[in-house]
Amino acid sequence: MQTDSSFTFVLFGGTGDLSMRKILPALYEAHRAGGMLADSGKIVAVARHAADRGEYIQWVNEHVKPHVSKNGVDETAWSSFLERIEFVKIDLGNPEDFALLRDAVKDLPGIRVFYLATGPSLFVPICRALASVGLNENARIVLEKPLGYDLKSSNAINDAVGEIFAEEQIYRIDHYLGKEPVQNLLALRFGNALFEPLWRREWVESIQITIAEELGVEARGDFYDNTGALRDMVQNHLLQLLSIVAMEPPHSMDSDSVRDEKLRVLRALKPINPLDIGKVAVRGQYHSGVIRGNAVPAYATEPGVKPNSTTETFVALKVEIENWRWAGVPFFLRTGKRLADRVAEIVVNFRAVPHSALGASALRAGANRLVIRLQPNETIRLYCLAKQPGEGMNLASVHLDLAFDQFFREGQMEAYQRLLLDVINGRLALFVRRDEQEAAWRWVEPILNEWKASNKPPKPYAAGTWGPAAASAMLAQHGTCWLEEEN
Ligand code: BG6
Repeated sequence: MQTDSSFTFVLFGGTGDLSMRKILPALYEAHRAGGMLADSGKIVAVARHAADRGEYIQWVNEHVKPHVSKNGVDETAWSSFLERIEFVKIDLGNPEDFALLRDAVKDLPGIRVFYLATGPSLFVPICRALASVGLNENARIVLEKPLGYDLKSSNAINDAVGEIFAEEQIYRIDHYLGKEPVQNLLALRFGNALFEPLWRREWVESIQITIAEELGVEARGDFYDNTGALRDMVQNHLLQLLSIVAMEPPHSMDSDSVRDEKLRVLRALKPINPLDIGKVAVRGQYHSGVIRGNAVPAYATEPGVKPNSTTETFVALKVEIENWRWAGVPFFLRTGKRLADRVAEIVVNFRAVPHSALGASALRAGANRLVIRLQPNETIRLYCLAKQPGEGMNLASVHLDLAFDQFFREGQMEAYQRLLLDVINGRLALFVRRDEQEAAWRWVEPILNEWKASNKPPKPYAAGTWGPAAASAMLAQHGTCWLEEEN
């Protein structure tokens, strides 16, 4: 990919965790690959924890370098990457400091991108300060999640930012949309004629979407304790995945065609009736346990977490979509920290044949199932029934496997790298539009409210397991169970 679009990429929160782990390593990878970033493009880091450029570069060497490329650092590329970096010391609490930023970028080339890798409470003050020195014009602004805490606070941020930047200047990040396998889901669904006729209520019995993590809350206890899994993972990543799985074929892959179709799904989600919440939503919190042979502590004893915290670290939901394609098909979503495995996958359970001429063994062997594994190893597995060799007609479940790394030599591009390149090149398709975000908040909010009002503690689960038993019981009500495959 060749580009000549020059840019000035201003990174607020330049010494923050996200800049260190994701943003700067992604920019380095794009630089190292060659041809993806215009040679004249500059990165302007904004922070107050470094005195000057020299000190900032030292910080980048110490803290960012360990996070770049699993295959080692290319020293020549690394030093030319550092040459792209400028630094401005700004106290974000002091709007007058933004004149320094204006002066620093005024002669730099290309489109201006302002990346707010800061807490959401700073989004509006930063946007206003940028506008006060005229830096909002013809620029792009990137907002990290979480964007707000609920519908009201998210609307307040969107309204205020919307007074300064037009919607097409705003890039709301959901890094799941930048993952290669999520892109591939679009290719699978809309590049193949094979699946589309079956992708509907007549043939699909249920769908599961899981994002399971082995990690706990790491150093983010304070943030997480005020957030919980529903806001951290469901409102954004899981509902985005759901909308891609369930959407109608878009007219084209341009940004609004895709986002319009996702929005239709989000708006068609059946509202949760507070009286049914116990039947369709399970919340859990991890206690101490063992993961891969290592003892891990309980959530409530993690640094930054209140000892009597009732924040959920696990959520399982039954979701329905009220439209012709999906009416009556349950979508089961789950996510959690400190689970038995790190895996993100989508399981499409097809209906059994309407009449089995092949006898009881066919029924025992089960129905067709498509398992789309997004991470850690991207694969697609289609379960079919086949005759067992030998006498008689005994059927067994077998599978067809598609492992992407066997077909494509090139390594996958990291989500952040793809998304940052999209911002620089003005491609909005993989960013969340305001109406999508609102629809997602509108749907999750009754669950948050009901959980708060009922004041019930989350169900405990031991770290290293698949979550509270109630999550399995919820599926058992529908005659099914969570699929847990070996990695
Ligand atoms: C982030 C959440 O958005 O996604 C984290 O805030 C979570 O809590 C992370 O760990 C998971 O992302 P990934 O790409 O590692 O699956």
